[in-house]
Amino acid sequence: MTMWTSDPAALPTADRTLTDRVLKSFDAAPSARLGEVMRSLVAHLHAFASDVRLTEEEWAAAVSFLTRAGQISDDRRQELILLSDVLGLSMLVIGMNHPVSETATASTVVGPFFVEDSPEFANGDDISGGAGGEPCFYSGRVLSAAGTPIPGARIDVWHADDEGNYDVQYAELDGAQGRGRLRSAADGRYWFSSVLPVPYPIPHDGPVGDLLTAAERDSMRPAHMHFRVSAPGFATLTTHVFVAGDPYLGFDAVFGERDSLVGAFVRHDPGVAPDGRVRDAAFFTMEFDFVLDVADSV
Ligand SMILES: [Fe+2]
Repeated sequence: MTMWTSDPAALPTADRTLTDRVLKSFDAAPSARLGEVMRSLVAHLHAFASDVRLTEEEWAAAVSFLTRAGQISDDRRQELILLSDVLGLSMLVIGMNHPVSETATASTVVGPFFVEDSPEFANGDDISGGAGGEPCFYSGRVLSAAGTPIPGARIDVWHADDEGNYDVQYAELDGAQGRGRLRSAADGRYWFSSVLPVPYPIPHDGPVGDLLTAAERDSMRPAHMHFRVSAPGFATLTTHVFVAGDPYLGFDAVFGERDSLVGAFVRHDPGVAPDGRVRDAAFFTMEFDFVLDVADSV
């Protein structure tokens, strides 16, 4: 069993001479950081291959796997982010770069379904775009760690419909569904409506799905709403709000859960909804405040 070490030279590999030569090949990299990262990558890669006595067939299978992951990816699907997610790498990197502070909202995985240019909405709008599901009214505030409102914060939201699919997973769909961008009001508040997110399986019709199947791993994610909140002078927050009571909490296929990100989605009987309209079907409300750290403060 290989022990973790921060010193690449200390890692045991089957052919130390070969490993040393590859390590040295990065010594002259103009970027010291590139040299550091690549030397460590090579050292751990060689130690890994030595540790498991990697066969040529396994090496070829890995190359084929990564090739397929690249080929199935495009601007609507990101299999390599999904791979990073199911290996826990995404949450490891997020945890190192966004340590949970005393007051700020915790970060979690961005996931493979974020779209850079989503449609703009005003507070109060319905962002569902026709996505199926039970109506849900979302609201809350964007605050600094000191508790002061942050006006004009950019809030990107995206979520799955009641089939567990994101808009980008529907090949025939042209516009956005369950996706939008808002700005917090002068008092830091945001509010909009859409539908209640449901648990869904991560895309399993590609190589990452094959890996989960081979390992007999579950592919489900607990129901959640994605948020990305950014404002000048503050660290951008990429996070989820998970639906309290979801049966998959504790079993997230991408290890993205944090207890502090579980929110109450409250069911209401038919009646007057937060938008002032009378609803003849049950609806939900969810209120969640986002607290941003000052940029580079952690
Ligand atoms: Fe998601």
